[in-house]
Amino acid sequence: MKTYPTIISPSLLSADFARLAEDIARVESAGADWLHVDVMDAHFVPNLTIGPPVVKSIFGAAKVPLDVHLMITDPKQHAEAFAKAGAHVLTFHREVCASPDEVRETIGRFREVGVDQVGIALNPATAVETVADFLGEVDLVLVMSVVPGFGGQSFMPEVLDKVTWLRDEGYEGSIEMDGGLNYETLPLCAAAGANCLVAGSAIFGAKDIPKTIGDFRRLGESALAERTPREVS
Ligand code: DX5
Ligand code: ZN
Repeated sequence: MKTYPTIISPSLLSADFARLAEDIARVESAGADWLHVDVMDAHFVPNLTIGPPVVKSIFGAAKVPLDVHLMITDPKQHAEAFAKAGAHVLTFHREVCASPDEVRETIGRFREVGVDQVGIALNPATAVETVADFLGEVDLVLVMSVVPGFGGQSFMPEVLDKVTWLRDEGYEGSIEMDGGLNYETLPLCAAAGANCLVAGSAIFGAKDIPKTIGDFRRLGESALAERTPREVS
């Protein structure tokens, strides 16, 4: 049976943008595996955050891979800039593609610009079956557990069924969950089959960040192992 590494990806949306390098160093030394970077364009979502120049600066300050979540209406057009800026994982939203062909073109473009991993994201209202035809072509499926746009929202447990569905379909890539993850909700994500766990306010708002990241990793690993027992080698 396939095993999955548990990856903790703190969302920089909850960091202090005037002290990004310090906050990056803080979560990296606390054990972060990736840094989750939320790119919002004020079209696909109401909020507006950062673009390629800031991602490039984050890349320069970071030691761990950048997990770039594009909440933008035209990911194809901007893929190259984010790849050059240092994105390791580059994820676009299924909802911005009008047709299956456009999904394939977007995946193709992301491959062409040379990102290490291509991800596809689903809003809570989007059916998981809309990505069924592309599961062999993406490295990661991001199941949003809040309506994207802002940090600090409450987890929507009804999206957990999508994660179960993906693993039951035999999807062997990474499954990431993003939005409202904390001590109570993160184990539910992992128990359903998610291995990449994004948390913004629960990590940056924690009194003891190293303990929180360590606890999240342990909770994630043990809940995931119950669902997908580790291979005995
Ligand atoms: C929401 C973003 C998330 C957000 C998560 O649109 O995609 O990455 O920062 O923040 P928390 O963990 O606070 O819900
Ligand atoms: Zn995100």
